[in-house]
Amino acid sequence: MNETMKTILERRSVRSFSSGPVAEEILKDLADAAMHAPSGMCRKTWKFTVVMNQEIIKRLAKVIEKVLDRPGYDMYNPVALIIPSNERDSKYGREDNACALQNIFLAAESYGVGSVWINQLTGICDTPEVREILNEMEIPENHIVYGIAALGFANPNATKPAYREIGEVKIIR
Ligand SMILES: Cc1cc2nc3c(=O)[nH]c(=O)nc-3n(C[C@H](O)[C@H](O)[C@H](O)COP(=O)(O)O)c2cc1C
Repeated sequence: MNETMKTILERRSVRSFSSGPVAEEILKDLADAAMHAPSGMCRKTWKFTVVMNQEIIKRLAKVIEKVLDRPGYDMYNPVALIIPSNERDSKYGREDNACALQNIFLAAESYGVGSVWINQLTGICDTPEVREILNEMEIPENHIVYGIAALGFANPNATKPAYREIGEVKIIR
């Protein structure tokens, strides 16, 4: 099995992070991996916002907690976020950003960095509290965030969930 296959098979969502920082160089590589994702008609109407600022990460989690009424919501306390956003009218924006997120997750795995998809912003980007913080991060007003990559080294005490093979593969010869 080659290294790429191993990375794909070994990646699992991480929901408990240690506080150890992820080097900016690695985060830049993850953003680069995102920008190399496929994009419908190569429109690439996306933007990737890399957030290492703990105060902003915690404030964003607090805003989500409030708007979605999810007491204690903390996005699993990641040490960094990569927030892909895309023009709300972009025909393939959601799909493009999903491809970009998967590239981020796999690149992160290749560096031993844990990751998980955070889906909570999709429906609430235009609520004033959320838009205010998106504006602060210079995410354009006409952009929607379909999913966020929460990142950090996995808490060494957390157990990695066993792989479950769900879904069907049918081979027709
Ligand atoms: C569209 C989408 C939305 C997701 N949203 C969340 C989320 O908000 N919070 C979370 O903890 N995991 C989220 N996940 C991660 C899935 O729960 C996870 O990928 C799934 O349970 C399979 O586990 P694995 O990633 O470890 O293989 C999301 C995944 C996808 C593809």
